[in-house]
Amino acid sequence: MRILVVGASGVIGSAISDALNGRHEVVRASRSKSPIAVNVDDLASIRAMYDTVGRVDAVISAAGSAAFKPLEALTDADYAASLTSKLMGQVNLVRCGQPYLTDGGTFIVTSGTLSRRPMHGGAAISLANAAIEGWVRAAALELPRGIKVRCVSPGWVRETLVQMGRDGDAGVPAADVAQVYVRALTTGLNGAIIDV
Ligand SMILES: NC(=O)c1ccc[n+]([C@@H]2O[C@H](COP(=O)([O-])OP(=O)(O)OC[C@H]3O[C@@H](n4cnc5c(N)ncnc54)[C@H](OP(=O)(O)O)[C@@H]3O)[C@@H](O)[C@H]2O)c1
Repeated sequence: MRILVVGASGVIGSAISDALNGRHEVVRASRSKSPIAVNVDDLASIRAMYDTVGRVDAVISAAGSAAFKPLEALTDADYAASLTSKLMGQVNLVRCGQPYLTDGGTFIVTSGTLSRRPMHGGAAISLANAAIEGWVRAAALELPRGIKVRCVSPGWVRETLVQMGRDGDAGVPAADVAQVYVRALTTGLNGAIIDV
């Protein structure tokens, strides 16, 4: 398959790209550190990316950010940025990508455990994560030409915890998380939310 990975330079996206490499043609995109540049916050940038990349069999998104701050500190701008990036960035990857996807192709987007397991400081992330999961369940009903959409919901990733100076053993290695994305390319219900 020819597979576009958006967020390919990140902890999860690079592990996904490495897992696919060799068995598939992997096209790596991200904001600044990948061969294809895209800003998912910007619809025109997403359109330009697809024009450059052309036809693909699958698109995997492990990109998009949301604010991590105490509830009282979250500003209008924080909420807007979180929804523009983590939510609408991924929604727009699916909306704009449909014409470029082969019949029966697959989109995989990323939410995160905070959609259902809240923590202090995670309100904006929980909002975006729960919203993308709801959207995936509904969009799956209407996508044309046998196109499927699934959402992977990772818990803490080991490498991320280590980057944060926390105990990596509390997380799942990125390589193991990546295998869940690889399996989701070909298995699972349309509209599935897949916990890692
Ligand atoms: N890591 C975890 O523990 C964890 C747990 C649950 C959920 N998640 C979710 O999984 C996703 C990936 O997480 P991660 O830890 O791999 O993140 P990461 O290491 O910070 O990497 C983020 C990736 O997304 C790209 N990116 C960020 N903003 C972008 C934008 N506006 N347009 C295009 N690309 C953009 C970055 O590109 P550049 O490097 O080029 O800037 C990078 O490739 C995120 O949605 C995160 O919320 C992560």
